[in-house]
Order: sequence, then C-alpha cells, then structure tokens
Amino acid sequence: MSRIESRTEARPGEEGGAAGTLVDRLLAGLPAEAVLTDPDVMASYAHDMASFCPAGAPAAVVLPRTVEQVQHVMRTATELRVPVVPQGARSGLSGAGNASDGCIVLSLTRMDRILEVNPVDRIAVVEPGVVNAALSRAVDEHGLCYPPDPSSWEMCTIGGNIGTASGGLCCVKYGVTAEYVLGLDVVLADGRLMSTGRRTAKGVAGYDLTRLFVGSEGSLGIVVRAVLALRPKPPEQLVLAAEFASAAAACDAVCRIMAGGHVPSLLELMDRTTVKAVNDLAHMGLPETTEALLLAAFDTPDPAADLAAVGALCEAAGATQVVPADDAAESQLLLQARRLSLTALEAVKGTTMIDDVCVPRSRLGDMLEGVERIAAEYGLTIGVCAHAGDGNTHPTVCFDAADPDESRRARESFDRIMALGLELGGTITGEHGVGVLKKEWLAREIGPVGLEMQRAIKQAFDPLGILNPGKLF
Ligand code: LAC
Ligand code: ZN
Repeated sequence: MSRIESRTEARPGEEGGAAGTLVDRLLAGLPAEAVLTDPDVMASYAHDMASFCPAGAPAAVVLPRTVEQVQHVMRTATELRVPVVPQGARSGLSGAGNASDGCIVLSLTRMDRILEVNPVDRIAVVEPGVVNAALSRAVDEHGLCYPPDPSSWEMCTIGGNIGTASGGLCCVKYGVTAEYVLGLDVVLADGRLMSTGRRTAKGVAGYDLTRLFVGSEGSLGIVVRAVLALRPKPPEQLVLAAEFASAAAACDAVCRIMAGGHVPSLLELMDRTTVKAVNDLAHMGLPETTEALLLAAFDTPDPAADLAAVGALCEAAGATQVVPADDAAESQLLLQARRLSLTALEAVKGTTMIDDVCVPRSRLGDMLEGVERIAAEYGLTIGVCAHAGDGNTHPTVCFDAADPDESRRARESFDRIMALGLELGGTITGEHGVGVLKKEWLAREIGPVGLEMQRAIKQAFDPLGILNPGKLF
C-alpha cells in the first residue's frame, strides 16, 4: 500500500513511461471518467475483505460500462502484457480480488443492468455488476426468486458470486451459485468474446465451460453477461431457534434432521463466542449462556408443522430450549443476527481470518470438536458459525494484527483447521474460494495430477498469464 501512497498524483495520460503508455492506450477506448489513476482512489481498490492478504499497487483502475470497453481493456492488457485483476464489490474473503503491482484493476460494478427477466423460461439475464439483493428484489416482482444468498447479499455482485462460486444461507435446500448459472458471455484474455452454455432448460452441447468459469476467480476470462436460472418464489420462511449445552449435541440434532428426510430452507449454527459477539455488536438479545444455537427454517406450505417435527428432533438430541419464531418479522431478526456474525467477530480483536472448510455433514461434530482443541492449543479465540446443514463451517480466528506472535498463531491455527477439514474428508473451501489465502492448500486437496490439469486449462485460456496472476495456484 505504501507504494501507492508514495506516488505523486497524475491525471490520466499525464504520467510518463510504461504507466503513461498504458493509461494512454486505455483512454483510446474508454471515457476519461472510466479510468482512475489517483493514488488514494486506487488504494481503495487494492484489496477485498481479506485485507490481511498481500496486495500490490495497481497502475490503473478501469470501470467499463460496455462489453466493447471490456474487450478494449483486455486487448490493451494483452498487447502490453499487463496483468488484469477483475473485481466486483470486493466483499470476497480470500484475497482473490487483491491487486497485484502494476496491474489494471477491472471493476465491473458499473455494468449493473438487469437485461431481462423471463418468467416463462424462468431466467434472468444480467450484467456482472448487478448486486445480488437487487436481482432478488427485481425477480420477486415476477413471483420468482434467485436463491443464492451470501451474507453479503446487500452489496456483493453477481459477477463476484460467479467468480467465487458463492454459497449462502439457503444452500441446504436450494444449492449454490453453480447450480443457477446456465450460460455466460466472457471476454477472453486477448479480447475475443465467447458465449458458453444456454438459456434453455436443458443442454449438453460440448464441455461445460459455463461450470468451469464458476469459481475460476477471474483467472480464465471476464464474465460480462450471465444467464441465471430462477425459481418460483417460495412461501415466507419461518425460523426456529434451538439452544444446546454443547456443540456436539447441536451437531447430533443436525444429523437427525438430515437423516430424517427433512428439507429445511436453512440450518445454521452459531457457537457461544459468535452469539456473544453479535449481542455485543447489535444488542440482539440472543441467549449467551448456551454453547450452541441452531437456527432451522422452513419455507414449506405448513412451516409450523415442519418446525414442530424438527423441534422434537432437537429435543431428542438434548436441546435445552426450542423456540419457534412467532412470525416472519421475528424470523427475519434471527437471520439478521446470523448474517451479522462475521462483522461481529471482527470486532472481538480487530482482525479475523475466516475459514470456510466444508466437511461431510456427518463429520460436523468432529470438525467443531477439533476446532475447539486447536483454539485451546494456540490460546486463541476462534468463533464458529456454520451453514450446519451443508457441513460448511466458518471457524473465525480473532486476532490482533499488530501483535506478531498472535498473528503467527492465528495463521498456524488457520492452517491446522484446513488440515483437519481434509482429514475429515472435506474441502478447504466450501464457498469463499482459494484466492491468495489458501493457495498453498489447493495442491494438497487436489493432488499433483489435478493441479497439472488445472494449470493446463489456465494455459489454454490465458497463455500470457495476465488474468489475475498469483491467485489460486
Ligand atoms: C457467512 C459468510 C462468512 O456465512 O460466508 O456469513
Ligand atoms: Zn458462509
């Protein structure tokens, strides 16, 4: 960051040398307001929410509004061999959106039009900068829903969701982003435009390049348009809160619910540390004496009956208290508390390192027990919230970044948590992506042959290595 700050201010095109050439070339196909070179402004584009991951100083930030402008940026980057880091709202948690030195930051946030909502085909066609919640609201008017709902849904963009293959709270019933992306328009590294996939209900023509792009973290091309599947809007969900004297008992309840054939629209867990952090931040009045709070929801025609059945299973697993929400408003409040978890945990020590290890849900109890052991061993606070129904955990290491010893312990414990996840048959990342944060771990998960094939794919799409270099591998 200091490199950005030490630069003298220059207006687009005024700077000399390579950067000047780059800015001149960019301005040949972009309006002046779409090219930012003010060092302070550029600094604000240097990283996503994993601010502790290394980030470089961009040479320019560009904010195109059209596909043609994105093509111009990529042609320029190819010609001058300049790295390009695509960004959405920068709400990512693995550093995949972090700038590298001398790069073009390609922010897609101004390409934010919803181009079509089609209730017959049950699709929406959108630009990448559309905010997730804006899409949800727009399709709601047609009696439809776009299910993937990351906690950051009020700010994160569809392009970013596609880049990181985002999950969210409702995945336990509705699945993740990948299941809703039917087709894409992508600007390739050399500026060519490629369409993948379909807007039909079915389609098996050739390799599934659409799926390949979901979760590719901007390393294969720039998504400029997406065809997304929609679903009929379900009834309003009703939430139940169950308190447990141990995380193990809460995990047992999760197993009973899933083995019992129930299909909750949400099944989330917050441990005692998380509950307290949320209360401290937002005074939500959640029960702090409990070791684990489980939130279950149903959006079925008779949610009260489904909640009663699940409540009984919670009691059988040892729940000390089971409280169904009275109405939709109270349900929303409980979800709000869950969505605040990450922000609340950040306030505990100033900095957090958030894991998102996903294990087979039958191993959730082992995962949580292991995290507790690791926290004790390293003398750290590790709060856990989890998309429990998916086995997708967010052990969140709270630490003081100004304390070198605590920072070292934080990183080590974070790595131990990923190792534990792999031991339990899980994955290092259920929904946040690899980025910079977990790139040493990708090889451990997929092995040398898998890594070689992934590199070959990268080489095919990006022979010059200019697309988000230093991420993933
Ligand atoms: C959440 C983010 C951290 O679940 O994925 O709140
Ligand atoms: Zn999550």
